[in-house]
Amino acid sequence: MVMEICGVAGQFSLSLSLSLSIRYGCVQANSVSGLTKTWPRVSMAAVSSTGKSELESRNRMFVLGMGFVGQFFAQELKNNGWIVSGTCTSVAKKKELEDRGFDVHVFDSNEPDLSALNTLKYYTHLLVSVPPVVGIGDPVLQHKQLLRSTLMDGNLQWLCYLSSTSVYGDSGGAWVDEDYPESPTSESAKLRLLAEEGWLNLAYDLGLSMQVFRLGGIYGPGRSAVDTIIKREALSEGQKKRTTKKFTSRVHVEDIIQALKASINIPSTGRIYNIVDDDPAPREEVFAYASKLVGKKWPAQIQQNTSGRAELLTQKHGEKRVSNARMKKELGVRLLHPSYRSGLQSIINQMEAYL
Ligand SMILES: NC(=O)c1ccc[n+]([C@@H]2O[C@H](COP(=O)([O-])OP(=O)(O)OC[C@H]3O[C@@H](n4cnc5c(N)ncnc54)[C@H](OP(=O)(O)O)[C@@H]3O)[C@@H](O)[C@H]2O)c1
Repeated sequence: MVMEICGVAGQFSLSLSLSLSIRYGCVQANSVSGLTKTWPRVSMAAVSSTGKSELESRNRMFVLGMGFVGQFFAQELKNNGWIVSGTCTSVAKKKELEDRGFDVHVFDSNEPDLSALNTLKYYTHLLVSVPPVVGIGDPVLQHKQLLRSTLMDGNLQWLCYLSSTSVYGDSGGAWVDEDYPESPTSESAKLRLLAEEGWLNLAYDLGLSMQVFRLGGIYGPGRSAVDTIIKREALSEGQKKRTTKKFTSRVHVEDIIQALKASINIPSTGRIYNIVDDDPAPREEVFAYASKLVGKKWPAQIQQNTSGRAELLTQKHGEKRVSNARMKKELGVRLLHPSYRSGLQSIINQMEAYL
């Protein structure tokens, strides 16, 4: 079966800069252009004199899972004039996102209300940002038949599944690229690989442009070593696990957004891309650097927070270093933050005050 590469009307032209103001415990993304209106529910009703509805002629993104990445991406697209809708799992979060000008559906794949999936046919682009669930697998693909029938006669031109570099397993510290054989070890990484395959198969069957992005550890404003230090948060289980790794690949959310935008302009048929920075550094190195930055900006704060970080210096195993060569070569991405250093610096620069 030959798959078709679909062209995308309307290229991105605006700068990548996200104007972000950080508040303790949450990220508020402020529109660069000042657009704050609520985006309309997509309906094909508003037909113009040309015969084509205004909505039909515009790019329309649906973000399944308006989490950390999903919200940044949605904001950036909104700033570029796209129609954007997305999902979250609770009414409270829907309200919070609506207050920030997003069009949001409540969608929890474990609940009976699947109406959000029915609306997918109206969208030209779909980002899947929902993680697999242990014991279930990909929670959205549980509804594969509904997805298939909805997307079959829809408008979709581009689909991207956000995956994880965890699918490679532990290469003993060797560099891995997208051709490196996957060898997931944890249950969630195994399910992640199955989810990739599931979405790739669905896109293949439907003849859709599809890409898989294998993301390194995501950080950005509101979620970074700087934020952890300032908030004096205890390490999560995932973070504790990462402290035993010699190398951790990571990526700043602004670079994920760049790569997503690039792939919309260069759609593929099932290509997999590692989306990571150039500098897979040990976690305590990143924390030491973040402590220095916080200490410089708020000296009183850092004295209270450095204690306890010594526990991070535990025995290390190799893990892997993830190559981003394909992302650079094929998508033309020039990283805004090739290392955690510039990424953390930009985060602290945007923090107006320690609250
Ligand atoms: N964090 C990392 O370092 C990292 C690294 C590599 C890959 N990834 C993966 O990359 C993707 C984006 O990451 P992220 O940090 O932006 O994720 P995130 O903030 O955790 O967002 C996940 C989104 O999925 C939604 N969701 C969760 N379970 C769902 C279900 N059963 N049904 C419907 N929606 C559900 C969440 O809903 P609510 O908004 O209601 O919570 C949220 O909107 C995720 O798949 C993540 O696992 C993350």
